[in-house]
Amino acid sequence: MKFFIDTANLAQIKEANDLGILDGVTTNPSLMAKEGITGTDNVMKHYKAICAIVDGDVSAEVISTDFEGMIREGEMLAALDEKIVVKIPMIKEGIKAIKHLTSMGIKTNCTLVFSSGQAILAAKAGATYISPFIGRLDDISYDGIQLIAEIAQIFAVQGYQTQILAASIRNPIHIIKSAQVGAHVITSPLDSILALLKHPLTDSGLEKFLADHKKANS
Ligand code: E4P
Repeated sequence: MKFFIDTANLAQIKEANDLGILDGVTTNPSLMAKEGITGTDNVMKHYKAICAIVDGDVSAEVISTDFEGMIREGEMLAALDEKIVVKIPMIKEGIKAIKHLTSMGIKTNCTLVFSSGQAILAAKAGATYISPFIGRLDDISYDGIQLIAEIAQIFAVQGYQTQILAASIRNPIHIIKSAQVGAHVITSPLDSILALLKHPLTDSGLEKFLADHKKANS
């Protein structure tokens, strides 16, 4: 399973990349706004800065909702760097745009996926990735992990090549469960990735090893 980081924060992207396990980055308009990146030129520069850090796919989201606008933006984003994956919302015009961009050899990530039906449509259109939002489903009492499992089963039965990118990760359990049920990729905030490191027995065990070594060598 690939690990993407879900942020537009360059320091956090560098920190995750330095771990040596980072396969890519996802952003969205809210994450760009959170970093104070505004205006097309600055947004484009920021995507280039992200691409310079990471050796992997970088999802950059369109803000148009009509077919022509999405294609125009998609082409502009894809021209920035070969790592760019154009992120397209799961709407009717979006499906057409995914089909078109795919036929041009441009990678796409269909975002805001909340059902298996949406996942099937995006896969049929040729999306490189689909992003089911686990956390936002859990927030409204639906089982986000169950959706990942269902889509994984459908894609395996149908032989779809589209990769399932589990998004809207809220905690390390989401990452572990996504791996268990067959997500190809997770995209997560840095704190949930780092939380995978943690176990109290690791900390107490290391403390004892170091204390015993110090005692024996003093
Ligand atoms: C996916 O690519 C989105 O950027 C993201 O995972 C959404 O997460 P949120 O529900 O925490 O905003």
